Formats: sequence, structure tokens, C-alpha cells
Amino acid sequence: MDRFVIEGGRRLSGTVDVRGSKNAVLPIMAAALLTREPLVIEGVPDLRDVRFYAKLLQVLGCEVSSEGSTMRFQTCNEEEHTAPYDLVSKMRGTVTTLGPLLARRGRARVSLPGGCVLGVRPIDLHLKGLRALGAKIKVEHGYIDAVAPPGGLVGAEIFLGSSFGPTVLGTANVLMAAVLARGKTVIECAACEPEVVDLARCLVEMGAQIEGIGSHRLVIHGVPELTGAHHRVIPDRIEAATFIVAGLMTRSEITVRNMRSDHLTAFFDKLLEAGAEMDIAPTRVITKPTERLNSVEFTTLAYPGFPTDLQAQMMALLTLSKGVSVITERIFPDRFMHASELMRLGANIRREGPMAIVEGSERLSGAPVMASDLRASAALVLAGMVAEGETEVQRVYHIDRGYERIEERLNALGASIRRVNPGPHE
Ligand code: EPU
Repeated sequence: MDRFVIEGGRRLSGTVDVRGSKNAVLPIMAAALLTREPLVIEGVPDLRDVRFYAKLLQVLGCEVSSEGSTMRFQTCNEEEHTAPYDLVSKMRGTVTTLGPLLARRGRARVSLPGGCVLGVRPIDLHLKGLRALGAKIKVEHGYIDAVAPPGGLVGAEIFLGSSFGPTVLGTANVLMAAVLARGKTVIECAACEPEVVDLARCLVEMGAQIEGIGSHRLVIHGVPELTGAHHRVIPDRIEAATFIVAGLMTRSEITVRNMRSDHLTAFFDKLLEAGAEMDIAPTRVITKPTERLNSVEFTTLAYPGFPTDLQAQMMALLTLSKGVSVITERIFPDRFMHASELMRLGANIRREGPMAIVEGSERLSGAPVMASDLRASAALVLAGMVAEGETEVQRVYHIDRGYERIEERLNALGASIRRVNPGPHE
């Protein structure tokens, strides 16, 4: 398994372009199962998760080709309806094949994705929504076996909220099933993350009729067929914010381009409260060298609240702030695997249930650490870039799932990150 060896203490400078959004593109790729016409997606990031999902779509009868960052998907064979365990277990996003398969092929057999380091991660809401549309669903032998009624799915009123808020992929799944269901579907407490909005826009380009896009109430009028489309995916807000944190942590002036600042208002609000200096324009941000930031308190919430996918990176930033910060994780209460690794670099963090209390210190010191998931890895790379001496981040395959060649792009800004391949005895 590859690891990163990071030499800390380098200032950054220059410009970085943000790639297309991972979490937007994955469900949009699944939308290719809703039509036999070609779906062309522009701005697709070159990521392990994208390559992996493309492989699953091929198993499900889709032809896939790519040229640069443009990918073309065309369903040519609609016989297969099983998303097997060996493909689904590697990546939770694959569960979004369930809605399209059911809507279009009348049957879906999708392996249960299983848990992950973020916690239990149930899919009960996905199933509740699809059952409301008339699907008969059994969960046995590790598979979700769903069958549509003889005339196809039928529109319904569905409440998709949970005690942790709306569900992003659950909304995507039910939305993709509803666009081909007969009649009207109302999804109450729908997720309104920019990635869900991007999917809905792509579905509209394919001929779907959806009202209330971007709100918590989606009204869908089912249509019998969808067409192909040409869609450009939104920039990755989490990647943009990760680069901004890199600029601020290293007290550097860098320009982060090709981004959507309106997707990151809660994040900017906290940074400004902490005293960060930035020049924020609609599609780019310039970070300014700032003295030590102040501590802040924040809670992760559904959009437009502070994103859980930035909690780890923000924690890395706050380990060097003045005072005591309190982080409350309301989406995935156990998503704190990075805390103990940051402590190996000298951070002072105490965990209390769904909260982490971070006492800022003046410096971090390099050490070997282990990446546990995608965003945790990003936090460790950021911390390694400011820690004194050398930091070795193991298991960086996690970061390759969601950041395109992150080390090359940070090195182009002046960082020193070496990717080391395993030796013969590892
Ligand atoms: N939940 C349920 N039942 C369900 C579904 C979700 O109780 O049926 C709960 C979850 O346990 C959690 C909350 O609802 O407490 C929200 O989970 P959600 O369903 O929104 O998460 P997701 O759709 O599985 C996506 C992203 C995650 C991101 C979350 C929250 C993708 C591929 N994944 O997951 O991204 O953290 O939304 O915004 O889009 C990442 O990119 O690193 C990542 C983990």
C-alpha cells in the first residue's frame, strides 16, 4: 500500500484548479442506467471511486468510454440486475444503482454495502422510499432484493428524514426511481446538498420533471422515458475547502480556482470567525497569510450547515489555533478516527461522545500516522504539511478515492510530499 512521506514546514504559493465533485458525479453516473441513450458527463475527476463505479456500470450493461475528463455512458444491455458484493462492498456510493435498476428494469439485487469507519450507516430510508413507490423488498443473504409491481413503480408521498437529518444518497436513490414512476411523487425532507441539486439538474436535462430542486421538498411528475444528456458536473466543494485549509494552515497566499464559493458559506463563516483572511470571489478564493487563528465552535449539519466531510480538515486547522475549540458531529457521531492520529502529531484533543474538544497548540511534530478514511487522510496530510520534520501517512489509498493526484497538486504549490510504493516485504 502506498504511503506519503511529507516534509513539514514549507510555505505554499501559486494556483490550484478544483476538479469535478466526486459525490456529485457518482449518482449522476448511475443515472445512465435510466435510459438507453448516451449520457455524457464533463469534468469527471480521475479518481479510484469513479473508475470503480464505471466498472460496476459495465457489469450492469453500460458501455463506458472516456476522453480526458469527459466520460460517456450508454446502457446497451438491460438484462443484468445484480450489483455483486465484491464490487459494492468497496464503495458505498454504489448503492445508488438500486433506484435506477428498479425503475427501469423492474428488479434490482444490490449487495448491502456494510458498515464503514464512519459508523453503522444504515440504508433503511432508501428502502422506505422505494417501498412507498410500490417496490417489494426483501433483505436476505446480504442482498437487497427489490421488485417493482407489474405496471412499474407508482408515485407516492414520502418523508425521508431521520434523527441525523436528510439522507444524501437516499434522496438520490428515491429521486432516480421516482422520475420514471407513474404519477406524482413528493419527497419531504429531501437532502438539498449541491450534489443532489446537480443530480436533479442532470435528470431534468434527461427529460425528468422535478420541482423544488435545492429545497427540502421535491415534487416529481413521472415520465415514461428519459433521453440522453450532456452534463457538466459541479466543482468539488470539499476539495476546494481542503486546499483553502492547506493555504491557511501553512500561512500562505494561494489561489483556489474553478470552485463555487456559494457552496461553502458555513465553512467560510467559521473561518472568518476564527480570524482567517481570505479574498472570496464567486469562483475563486485567495488565502492570505494570517497569524494564529482563534478557536471556534462548530457543529456538522446537513447542507447548508457545516459539512461533515470538512470536519476532519477543520480539526487539523484548529489544532494550531489559540484557545479551545469544540466540534460536534451531528451527521456521523463516530467520525473521529483522525483525532487519535492527529494526537500522534502532538495535537491536544479530547473526545466526549459526539464532541471533540481541541486545545490549540503552537506546533505539531512529524510522526508516522495511519489514514482511516478519505477525509481523515486529508486532515493528516494537512497536519503533516505544517508539522516539524517528517510525517509518514500510511494507507493513502483512502485519499486516492476522493482527491485526484493530491500530492502532485500540493507539490506544485510548493509542498514536499513523496509517494512511496511498498517494498517487496510489505
Ligand atoms: N441515515 C439513516 N438511514 C439511511 C440513510 C442515512 O439513518 O437510510 C443516516 C446516516 O447514518 C447519517 C445520516 O443519515 O447519520 C446522513 O447520511 P447520508 O445518507 O446523507 O450519507 P450518504 O448519503 O451515505 C453521502 C456522502 C458522504 C457524506 C454524507 C453526508 C457520497 C458517496 N457520500 O453519504 O461522503 O459524508 O453524504 O453529507 O455522496 C465522503 O465523501 O467522504 C463521504 C463520506
